[in-house]
Parts: sequence; C-alpha cells; structure tokens
Amino acid sequence: MRVEVRSSRSGERHALAVIASRAGVAYAPDGDVLLVAVDRSDRPVGWASGTFGARYPGPGAPIPAPHGYLQAVVVDPAHQRNGVGRELVSAFVAAAARAGVGWVFAVPDEDQGVQDRVRFFAACGLVPVPDPDEEWPVMGILIT
Ligand SMILES: CC(C)(COP(=O)(O)OP(=O)(O)OC[C@H]1O[C@@H](n2cnc3c(N)ncnc32)[C@H](O)[C@@H]1OP(=O)(O)O)[C@@H](O)C(=O)NCCC(=O)NCCS
Repeated sequence: MRVEVRSSRSGERHALAVIASRAGVAYAPDGDVLLVAVDRSDRPVGWASGTFGARYPGPGAPIPAPHGYLQAVVVDPAHQRNGVGRELVSAFVAAAARAGVGWVFAVPDEDQGVQDRVRFFAACGLVPVPDPDEEWPVMGILIT
C-alpha cells in the first residue's frame, strides 16, 4: 500500500490513540516529533513518535549526543506487513538527519512480542548496541 508520511496535525491525536488501541499497545501519540502515515484519503494508518534531542545514557552509543530517540511506531493492524512501519522509521531517520542527528535509537518493548519488534527494527536497519548485560539491547542506526 502506498502511504505518505507527514507531520501530525492538530486534532489528530484521538485517531492516533485509536490506532494504538487497535494494535493492542498503550503508547501515547506524543513527543517532540510525531509523524503520521496516511492513505490516499489522508486517513492515518500509522504513526511514529520520538525526539531528536535525546542522549542515550547506556553503553554502546557509537557517537556523542544529540541522539534521535524513536519512542514508538504503531501501525493499524488492518495495514500491517505492508511496509508502513518501515516507511515511518525511514521518515523518522531522514528527519533526524535533517535536524543534524547522527544516530537514532529505539528501546525494544520487552512485553509479549519482543522478538517480532526486534525483527522489525532489524528489518529497518537498526542494530543492537554492544551491551552484554541486556537480553534485548537498545537498537540503533547510524546515519551517514
Ligand atoms: C511493529 C509494527 C510497527 C510493524 O509495522 P508494519 O507496518 O507491519 O511493518 P512493515 O510491514 O514495514 O515490516 C517491515 C519488515 O519488518 C519485519 N516485521 C514486521 N512485523 C513483523 C512481525 N510481526 N514479526 C516478524 N517480523 C516483522 C519484516 O521483516 C517486515 O518485512 P516483510 O513484511 O517483507 O517480511 C506493527 O506490527 C505494530 O504496530 N505493532 C504494535 C506496536 C509495536 O509493537 N511497535 C513496535 C515497538 S515501538
């Protein structure tokens, strides 16, 4: 499915929260950066949130802050496995690059389905940081 990714507009938060609810997660559509994937009718089908002013405090960050923190990516179950999530991550990383950020990280939610989330992030180009103490380390992508 072809989607466009754009910044969220005011009045859209409720629709994004409904998508999260349908997807079975409690993530809130907030954060400094809130991107929305919309269908041809400009209806939201997924969203990504985070910040470009983060500092990952653990071991393994490849470059100093500022870091991009990809806090949540959520796609409506009716539109999953169609590349929408990948488009959202790609748009978030591209926007981070434009903001002068060189590394974007995500923290895999360790609730049920963590392996699928890690596979998704890996498919988007994120790799685990070297952190032997963590079963599910933070994953990040260097922007070249
Ligand atoms: C994780 C999530 C955002 C993925 O969105 P999506 O639009 O379905 O993902 P994409 O179609 O772009 O998938 C890209 C690739 O990621 C991998 N992937 C995606 N979902 C996967 C899953 N459930 N299991 C295994 N691999 C998966 C695949 O390699 C996929 O490529 P393929 O379909 O060609 O095999 C979506 O399942 C979701 O909203 N889940 C609930 C919220 C959540 O857990 N978010 C992630 C943590 S913030």
